[in-house]
Amino acid sequence: MTEAGQHTPVLVRAVCELLAISPGDTVVDATIGLGGHAARFAEALSASGVLVGLDVDAGNLSAAEARLADFAENVVLCRRNFRELPEALRDARRGRADVIFADLGVSSPHLDNPERGFSFAADGPLDMRLDDRLTTTAADLVNQLREGELADLIYHNGQEHRSRRIASRICAVRRERRITRTSQLAEVVAAALRVDPKSRRSKIHPATRTFQALRISVNDELGALDALLECAPDCLNPGGRIGIISFHSLEDGRVKRAFLQGKREGVLAIATKKPVVADQDERKENPRSRSAKLRVAVRTQAEIDTA
Ligand SMILES: C[S@@+](CC[C@H](N)C(=O)[O-])C[C@H]1O[C@@H](n2cnc3c(N)ncnc32)[C@H](O)[C@@H]1O
Repeated sequence: MTEAGQHTPVLVRAVCELLAISPGDTVVDATIGLGGHAARFAEALSASGVLVGLDVDAGNLSAAEARLADFAENVVLCRRNFRELPEALRDARRGRADVIFADLGVSSPHLDNPERGFSFAADGPLDMRLDDRLTTTAADLVNQLREGELADLIYHNGQEHRSRRIASRICAVRRERRITRTSQLAEVVAAALRVDPKSRRSKIHPATRTFQALRISVNDELGALDALLECAPDCLNPGGRIGIISFHSLEDGRVKRAFLQGKREGVLAIATKKPVVADQDERKENPRSRSAKLRVAVRTQAEIDTA
């Protein structure tokens, strides 16, 4: 966070150069957040262009609306999951888009507000829902899954190879009392791994991967990304571009594979042979940019095979 209520958008220059928005384009920002990237997109559109902004978080959508007030006539905001991209384009009365952009994951307000339950740094309810219409919280998963299911979830979505030890400890603790707070879970995981989070030897908090795994599961983040990647080529005009910024290898691997698949099918050309990453200055100024990877592909003229 640089200013109150602001989320510093990552890789802005590369995003704008590679997505090359032209006046009159239809641009979808599938994760509008606080509107940081979207403000740059809106500036590049003329009066005939349209920016369709999606987000599942109602608070962020309101913040984006305020930030984009000067462009209100050209902006359509919808509270939709980006897995519903075709429906969102239909709602906005646009056939296809010229640009589709997604900046995956959570925004600063999610991490900074302990009540959202994403952070082990400050105590809060173990929630982690980006979309408060969802009915399953992280506390539900932690207290209700069977030990083996919990271990698999932490292993696959957190890339945590000590997942069995963590799941076993969680199950032992929850037999005594429900685990409902972020600080409680962080302590249980640290104890399971016998790591003192305050020790200089632990570079990241021992619960980092477990928290990532729960967040991904609560929000079905990988399922939504797969759905977006599947429908995107069909939602783009020929020559249209898709850019995705991801923050961990589970996301980046999916984007890479989907673009390669699109290339094999002749519907996408890859514009970034290697992912674009932040330079030293940006990494220093905005720690969130350190793990950001941007991949861009271009929709070819080929017809989509719907058979
Ligand atoms: C990293 S932030 C985007 C920040 C934005 N680019 C900016 O500059 O302000 C990601 C946003 O995507 C939203 N989000 C995450 N998964 C989503 C999904 N499947 N569908 C729609 N929005 C999603 C989150 O609520 C969050 O507001």
